[in-house]
Amino acid sequence: LKASVIVDKDFVVGEVDKRIYGSFIEHLGRAVYNGIYEPGHGTADEQGLRGDVMGLVKELQVPIVRYPGGNFVSGYNWEDSVGPVAQRKRRLELAWRTIETNEFGFNEFVDWARKANTDVMMAVNLGTRGADAARNIVEYSNHPSGTYWSDLRRQHGYEQPHNIKVWCLGNEMDGPWQIGAKTAEEYGRAAVEAAKVMKWVDPTLELVACGSSNLNMATFPDWEATVLDHTYNHVEYLSMHQYYGNSDDDTRTFLARSVEMDDFIRTLVATCDFVKAKKRSKKTMYLSFDEWNVWYHSHAADAKREPWSIAPPQLEDVYTHEDALLVGCMLITLLKHADRIKMACLAQLVNVIAPIMTSNGGGAWRQTIFYPFLHASVYGRGKALVPLIQSPKYDTKTITDVPYLESIAVYNEEAGEVTVFAVNRSLEESLALEVDLRSFGKCRLIEHLVLQHEDLKAVNTENNPDNVKPHANGNATVDGLKISAQLAKASWNVIRVK
Ligand code: AHR
Repeated sequence: LKASVIVDKDFVVGEVDKRIYGSFIEHLGRAVYNGIYEPGHGTADEQGLRGDVMGLVKELQVPIVRYPGGNFVSGYNWEDSVGPVAQRKRRLELAWRTIETNEFGFNEFVDWARKANTDVMMAVNLGTRGADAARNIVEYSNHPSGTYWSDLRRQHGYEQPHNIKVWCLGNEMDGPWQIGAKTAEEYGRAAVEAAKVMKWVDPTLELVACGSSNLNMATFPDWEATVLDHTYNHVEYLSMHQYYGNSDDDTRTFLARSVEMDDFIRTLVATCDFVKAKKRSKKTMYLSFDEWNVWYHSHAADAKREPWSIAPPQLEDVYTHEDALLVGCMLITLLKHADRIKMACLAQLVNVIAPIMTSNGGGAWRQTIFYPFLHASVYGRGKALVPLIQSPKYDTKTITDVPYLESIAVYNEEAGEVTVFAVNRSLEESLALEVDLRSFGKCRLIEHLVLQHEDLKAVNTENNPDNVKPHANGNATVDGLKISAQLAKASWNVIRVK
């Protein structure tokens, strides 16, 4: 197999908003409890925040983390999660059928985020609640002082406002599984009224309206058109969510899923622009792909779980090498739409469908998907360049014209570096890649990182945490204006030149 890419600094998709390397912590399973927070753990600080997990989060350089849900937020009484811990209420948590102790709450998460060098993307409950609770939490969080809610925050020990800028207007409100699910009309109305009062409290907010829960929802994309009809002038972003699985063990199709994801994004860009035209608006609607990942390994185990325990292991997918390849393809797909996707959240961050796993009282380790995310987050900042790709293609039963090569380059002008991200989707053959660097002048190779494994189903575990990990012995060479490399079958590659 042979493929080529032209990379030209004048052909720019868009500036990469670093927030596309966001992630997500939901009150679900062991994400909070025994994930980011475990008092008594050997690495915990005075607030009970696990230092080993914090170290891995910092390694990923995650710029923003969505909180507190997810489905959880549609039953969230935010007032339960602030104030003296001893007085906090234990609640039945209906989204995931557990008991929420509220021992860890809103302010603790803000503290965690500060320590992790990340911003908070906060969500309000538009399932059981609405505009009133939404305006109150914004006042509690962002108003300086002199009112009931802002002074309550100060009384709780937070003199300075949290100044959280990005807020989600509910979560997956089209889903029948959602507490307080709504029709597009009902949600559009609820969202616009919440948006208005939230911005009246703090006009600097950036708001995200819920798009469809996934591209298979029967109401997609009418949902988006109706919701935007109501909210277009009041929100900055429309959300997208999508997970993929390989339960049929058809890896060729599985690795092609990012082609579907690309179509999904194109459809939503078109839908946003349709509403823009209808409204004769000058404003461009941006996308927040605030849940994306592989999710299916844990479905069977979760279906058997008894309800009403505290922080049980839920959604604990153990990721394989092939999952890391699809995550790499999904990251490249996000970069291809850097002009419209301004935020994205790998769902989630710790234990729950996550790149970071922990054991209670034990260690923390990197899952396979940690690595493509790490590389993209660290090296994928700058300008995403138009991917001019020639690649042989394959067909599956459901997806046709799938290029063996998935690739994009990002130009970091400040550092004078170009990074080519590339996945070889072929499960049988290596792929000879040539990258034409034309406008960049003579370059030299910095490194060629490769994630490869003979076993597509290989995983990392606490006892074998380095089974799947990248090496820096890729064979790329740079000859003046051209990179040549032989990409191993089923591999993720990061080729950095200067
Ligand atoms: O991330 C797990 C769940 O997936 C979220 O709670 C929900 O929004 C989505 O369905």
